[in-house]
Amino acid sequence: MIYAANFKTNHTRQSTREYLGKLQPQLSKKNPNDKVYIFPPLTALDDYESADFRVGAQNAYPVENGAFTGEVGVEQLTEFNINTILIGHSERRDIIGESQEDVAKKFAFFKEQGFEIIYCIGESLEVREEGIEAVMTHLVSQFEGIDTSYDNFVVAYEPIWAIGTGRTASVDEITETHNALKKVVDKPLLYGGSVKGANIKEIAHVENVDGVLVGGASLKTETFLELVLH
Ligand code: PGA
Repeated sequence: MIYAANFKTNHTRQSTREYLGKLQPQLSKKNPNDKVYIFPPLTALDDYESADFRVGAQNAYPVENGAFTGEVGVEQLTEFNINTILIGHSERRDIIGESQEDVAKKFAFFKEQGFEIIYCIGESLEVREEGIEAVMTHLVSQFEGIDTSYDNFVVAYEPIWAIGTGRTASVDEITETHNALKKVVDKPLLYGGSVKGANIKEIAHVENVDGVLVGGASLKTETFLELVLH
């Protein structure tokens, strides 16, 4: 299983350091095959040097460096040995306004750099209510321009209506969607959307769920560890 913590715009450099300091000693208890990823805000990136977890960037601009005011490129990530990135999160697509073309450009660039990419896809409630066929048409459209044969990538399925809402997709919905997705991309497949201590067991049990991407429940070391050590 993969356990990925997405802090979004939460935590500071100081509190991230404290968080990781508390997390690290507990990770000796995890299953050695499990992988833990932490995506802190950009200001908290550093070379934390742990064999037990990997730190990645929530976002970056697809350039080495240059004149892109307010953005961070590969040069800034490499300073901290960061070579893992989240691409396509629904908050970046819907709030920041990244188009599929922007997302595909980013994917191609970071693929070229050999980054490990956690690529997020997900449908709105409106699409979900139309049924699984509409959901799959939407999800497949989010692979437009994406080289799904790239070795170093993981897909995160995150229904938008389940993100930060406390409403998790049902086990049946996750099962049906993940089974269909595995036929489209044969890559590790994470589920995201209100994953927490109370539902990790049933979600982790779903056949094609290879891990979870967690926002809210990842913000405290204790609640994230409830997932990692469940
Ligand atoms: P959530 O966020 O766990 O708070 O629903 C998940 C995500 O957006 O990655």
